[in-house]
Amino acid sequence: MMNRAPDTPEWLLPEHHVVLDGITKAYGKTVVLSDINIRFQRHQTAVIIGGSGAGKTTLLRLLIGLEKPTVGHIWVDGQDITPLGDYAMNKVRQRFGMVFQYAALLDSLTVLDNVAFTLREHRKDLSKRQIKEKVVTMLNQLGLVDKEHHMPSELSGGQRKRVGLARALMLEPSVLVYDEPTSGLDPNTSRMVDDLIEETRDRFNVTSVVISHDMASCFRIAHRAYLLIEGKVAAEGTPAELAFGDSAISRDFIANSGVSLDMLKRIVD
Ligand SMILES: Nc1ncnc2c1ncn2[C@@H]1O[C@H](COP(=O)(O)OP(=O)(O)OP(=O)(O)O)[C@@H](O)[C@H]1O
Ligand SMILES: [Mg+2]
Repeated sequence: MMNRAPDTPEWLLPEHHVVLDGITKAYGKTVVLSDINIRFQRHQTAVIIGGSGAGKTTLLRLLIGLEKPTVGHIWVDGQDITPLGDYAMNKVRQRFGMVFQYAALLDSLTVLDNVAFTLREHRKDLSKRQIKEKVVTMLNQLGLVDKEHHMPSELSGGQRKRVGLARALMLEPSVLVYDEPTSGLDPNTSRMVDDLIEETRDRFNVTSVVISHDMASCFRIAHRAYLLIEGKVAAEGTPAELAFGDSAISRDFIANSGVSLDMLKRIVD
């Protein structure tokens, strides 16, 4: 799992699944992220919170290898991926599954075709029939029985999320990254999606990184949460430490997010 190269830093441990090490990202003169240090622990759920424009999506794009940092290193499974070229980078990217905001399904394709998409692209060794079998097995595992011939418009919001998740899981990633998984869902469906994120982490043995505006969700699923403000990690800790701990910045952020602090307290208890 971890092939320790001679230049691996002392602090890098096998349980550090993905590490952002002194990351700065600038577009021209605009610094979007600065000096980000996050060690994503294997098999845990990390939640990134922060206001609009704080740099959350940029951080996610760096994490899954869609962009390179301006300064710093990103370590995945003990390997520094920052110097890698396109071919090696593509291989690393396959270790990440991405669940997009609003599921991002193609409305003109059936559920089967939506989920089979990445398999058809990356697994040329599989026959049409094998691909279909894999997709249907995954859909069944996620509680979507006999839905493969449905169109996305025929599904509920929660079912669409499951289809998006099925698609992200097809290449058997070890890290699942979710962008705003509960946005646009009612509270009950949000809670179901939170349960799904946790079940998936357990069943598929993945590490989860979640971007969220939803504090209740953050409290339910995060082992560790990171508050991004203007491209910097302003506070980090358990959700309870962020809401009720020493950092006035994070206490204010959460108190002003519109969620009831009493409700958050109940989730912690
Ligand atoms: N390709 C780019 N070129 C220049 N600036 C960019 C680029 N991508 C992002 N930015 C800037 O970086 C900042 C952070 O953007 P980012 O999309 O990461 O924010 P965010 O935290 O995801 O916000 P939101 O919650 O609204 O999605 C913004 O000010 C944005 O304008
Ligand atoms: Mg964003």
